[in-house]
This record gives sequence, structure tokens and C-alpha cells, in this order.
Amino acid sequence: MKPIQIGLLGLGTVGKGTYDVLLRNQAEIQRRTGRPIQITMVADLDVERARSMVEPGCQVVADARQIIANPDIDVVIELIGGYGIARTLVLEAMAAGKHVVTANKALLAVHGAEILSAAQHKGVMLGFEAAVAGGIPIIKSLREGLTANKIHWIAGIINGTTNFILTQMREKGLSFEIALKEAQALGYAEADPSFDIQGVDAAHKCSIMSAISFGIPMPFAHAYIEGIDQLQSEDIAFAEQLGYRIKLLGISKKTDQGIELRVHPSLVSEKTLIANVEGAMNAVMVNADAVGTTLYYGKGAGGEPTASAVIADVVDMARLMSSHVDARVPYLGFQSAEMVDTPILSINDVVTCYYLRLGVADQAGVLASVTGVLADHEISIDAMLQQPAAVGQDRTELIVLTHSAKESVMNQAIAKMEELPTVLVPVIRIRKEDLN
Ligand code: HSE
Repeated sequence: MKPIQIGLLGLGTVGKGTYDVLLRNQAEIQRRTGRPIQITMVADLDVERARSMVEPGCQVVADARQIIANPDIDVVIELIGGYGIARTLVLEAMAAGKHVVTANKALLAVHGAEILSAAQHKGVMLGFEAAVAGGIPIIKSLREGLTANKIHWIAGIINGTTNFILTQMREKGLSFEIALKEAQALGYAEADPSFDIQGVDAAHKCSIMSAISFGIPMPFAHAYIEGIDQLQSEDIAFAEQLGYRIKLLGISKKTDQGIELRVHPSLVSEKTLIANVEGAMNAVMVNADAVGTTLYYGKGAGGEPTASAVIADVVDMARLMSSHVDARVPYLGFQSAEMVDTPILSINDVVTCYYLRLGVADQAGVLASVTGVLADHEISIDAMLQQPAAVGQDRTELIVLTHSAKESVMNQAIAKMEELPTVLVPVIRIRKEDLN
């Protein structure tokens, strides 16, 4: 049978992984698809380097548009990244009738509506399994494996760089700055790691999962995003004393009022599996009505793990190429006419539990005044920890874990606490998730 011909845009780490895995596992993959899959063209600006990395039969070009213009190419794999030229090339490839596979979460989260509508208009397939959590087949799980369910919530560690940094901070007591330098030295973090540490990369991925979980248009513009760059190692240590670990979670939850979509550091009980996901690993928890809670764990980045997801999309396409457009799995798992524009809740409307750290004067009545403010706002205390003041110091740290409260009410309570003369510095607040 005629091979599926692939044009690969970008021969970086994931491009090389995709090329190598496809070549190495060619026979096994063909037994699964019933058709050979061959990367016959590669576009990369460094033509010489790319040529040294591929078989002699594979044509290497500097101009990606040569691939798009080639009528023999069935599928274009975009591994350039970013919103710039990648967006233009994906749209041009679709306009030329190519099916497209991409690992580009930023592109989908920000320009998802445009890309999906272009794919639908041309009747081409769009695969993006590799865009979320690398090698973990979470898109397929949400879109197909869990299709019988009403999904209640998802919560994921979906950025390996920040999980590595948090693990180093907890295990070695490092500051955020030192742990980041270590992540960069080991090649986990980019030279410009801002999308990772500010939570933007996790928000891109969480938005894609949220759209698929709830059948809503891509909600990234409404996401609440807080990274780990303000996190202090003291809080990681205090959380540990109370039986919690701090993770950067991407959370999306359906409530009666709307959908929560938020990325921020969260305390999670050390007894949960997700709290024990360490280093650069990723994990996603999904809670749904029929199946209950499921957990997906694995490598969220790297050449071959991400290639695993890229090639899975190509294999799906090879199987479905001759099927009618309506018989294919919808891009976001719901029929496009059935998408519902459910409101994304403001962070002020989110209800969750909290960790508060207060730097207070070590004197009579302080505890009563702080707990009084919480009582006035009907916020119930779950646990407290007070550190003995250091010798010669009249300031101490008071840590409070609360039961659930609305964020806007918690904001008012924190403002009142900060007005107390005995509360000496701004209150540190980290949300705590029960994940029940
Ligand atoms: N920068 C991402 C991470 C990898 O650290 O998880 C690819 O999404």
C-alpha cells in the first residue's frame, strides 16, 4: 500500500526523536496502521546539520513552504513552536489540504479557535496529543477513553521544569533562584524560562485540557495564572511539617456557577499520589462521574517521549484518512455545534482551602486577633503551627491552614489581618487543594 508521506517542520529535540522513533519502530508501526509511514521531507534552517541526521532518501530543505507545496505530502508535523511562523505555516498547510500534527501548546491555547476552524473548513485532521504532558496520552484519554463520563475536574502537574525546581527546593532546601539555575544547567529550563516559572506554559496545557473536558471554546484568555517565582523555601518547609507538598497545579473544575481555570502553587497532602510526582515528571488527575478518579503519569517533555505522542497522532491519521470527516473523533471531543460557551469564573469566585503565613509580633493576644478576623469572615481553621521566636527576636511565624473559603472573602480577611498592628509583614497565601 502507498506509504503515508510526512513532511517534518523543525528538526530539534522532538523532531529528531520523531524521526528516530519512526525509523526504529517502522515495522511495528506498520503492523498497527497497515500502511508504511515515511518522513520524506524535513525543513530546517540548518540544512547541513539536518542532512547529517536523516537517511539519504529524506529530502532536507530550508524553506518549509517547499513541503507544503509538495502534493505527495499527506501530513505536516509542526515542531517549530511559538505563535509566529508556526501559526502561518500550520494555516498554510491546512489550506493546502494537509493533515497537521503539532506539539505547539502555545499556538493551540492562544490561536485555537482560528486553527480549529481552519481545519474544519478544509476537512483536515489536526493532532495535538504532544501539546499536553509530552508522552502521556492525556488528550486521547480525555477525548476518547473517558468519553462516557461527565468530567468534574482535572488537576495536573504539567510543567516538568517547575516540578523539578520545587523538588530541589524541598529536598535540598534550595532557594528558588538557585534551584532555577540548577534546572537550567541540567537543560530542563530554557535560557528564558519565563513561560515555565510564571505558569504560562502550564496554563496553555490546562486550557487545552479544559476545552476537551468540558466542551468549551479554548479558554486560555480567562485563565488565572500564578507561577512559582515568588515562592519561598520556608513555605515549602512549613507545608512539609504539616504533611503537605507544594506543587504547581493546573486546575480546571466544573461548578454550578461556571468553570474554574487556574494555575498556581498549591498545597497537596503528601499522602496523595500526585504529591509524590517528583523531578521533571508530569501527572494529571481526572475526576469524572462514572469512572471516579484516574491518574496519568509519565514524562512530559524530551525528544522520544514527545515523539511517542506525535507518532500516535500520525498513526490515527493513517487509520482515518479514508474515513468521512463526520466519522472522525471531533478535534475537542465534542461535536463543534455542541460546544457551550460556559463562563470561566474569576479567581475571586473560586472556593478552595488556604495556607496562610503571618509574620507576627510575639506578644499576648496576637493569636486571638488573627483567629478573630477569620471567625468574623466565617472562615474555619483546619490546623495551625506556631514557630518559637528565635532567641532575641520578638517576631514569630504563624501558619494557618483553613477549610474552604471563597477567594474574595479570603482577600477581605487578609486585608483585615494586615491592618492589625501585630501583623508585621504582608500575609503569604498559598491555596490548598483537597483533590477529593
Ligand atoms: N517546558 C515544558 C516543561 C516542556 O518544562 O514541562 C514542554 O512542554
